[in-house]
Amino acid sequence: MSVRILLLAAALAASPTVLGAATGWPMQPMTPDLEDQPSLQRGLGLYANYCLGCHALGFQRYERTADDLGIPHDVALNELVFTGQKIGELMTTAMDPESAKAWFGAPPPDLTMVARVRSPEWIYNYLKTFYIDESRPFGVNNKVFGNVGMPHALIGLQGAQREACPAGTADCRELVVEAGSGLLTQEQYDQAAYDLANFLHYVGEPMRLERQRLGIYVLIFLAVFGVFTYLLNREFWKDVH
Ligand code: HEC
Repeated sequence: MSVRILLLAAALAASPTVLGAATGWPMQPMTPDLEDQPSLQRGLGLYANYCLGCHALGFQRYERTADDLGIPHDVALNELVFTGQKIGELMTTAMDPESAKAWFGAPPPDLTMVARVRSPEWIYNYLKTFYIDESRPFGVNNKVFGNVGMPHALIGLQGAQREACPAGTADCRELVVEAGSGLLTQEQYDQAAYDLANFLHYVGEPMRLERQRLGIYVLIFLAVFGVFTYLLNREFWKDVH
């Protein structure tokens, strides 16, 4: 018992460092919304185009995803499956893990659970805080994941973001995108980062959507059942009075 408590305490004490939250970056809030189906659909589209080449969703099937997000199977197959896989298959990546490790130092992790380990808010801020840093192998660094081994996959959309502090400032907290260097406006890019984080939140626990749908039926059932209970109750007590 006490060993477990100690372990838990140790894990809690270590986790902010492990999870990169200790960088002190002022996180912008992000509240996931599973009711927002268009956002989840856009998130899936961005994911398939910009992330799935490196990061598998090894516990998630295309079919389940398409059904949950209201996307017809033929559309999903045409627009989202670039690996020649079938709709019932897992969303794996074609990248060979050995080469991936050689290219990136660390192999790109499977992201099925990442929103549960890191939080959707962390992912949102992570995607917004890549900045130019020539000293890094891919020419970019990240404010919530220092010295990250991932290139900025969305740089074409966001544009080149730079630190905007006097040279030599340690822990600069100002980032500015070079005007005209990305396809999207800042607002549109924020939305894209939101949609991706929202989608990964859904992937972390797809049952959540189903549970919400089931919840409605349970409430309807309880309401109908309540009417009968009331009538029955009245019937029973009629003779007593
Ligand atoms: C070119 C390959 C590549 C692409 C494309 C890519 N990533 Fe990554 N990503 C990586 C690598 C490599 C790491 C591991 C970095 C490390 O550990 O330093 C990583 C790490 C991450 C992490 C942190 C995982 C963790 O908990 O440690 C997240 C979140 C992430 N990527 C999200 C994304 C998203 C979202 C996209 C699409 C917009 C994307 N990545 C596109 C290679 C890629």
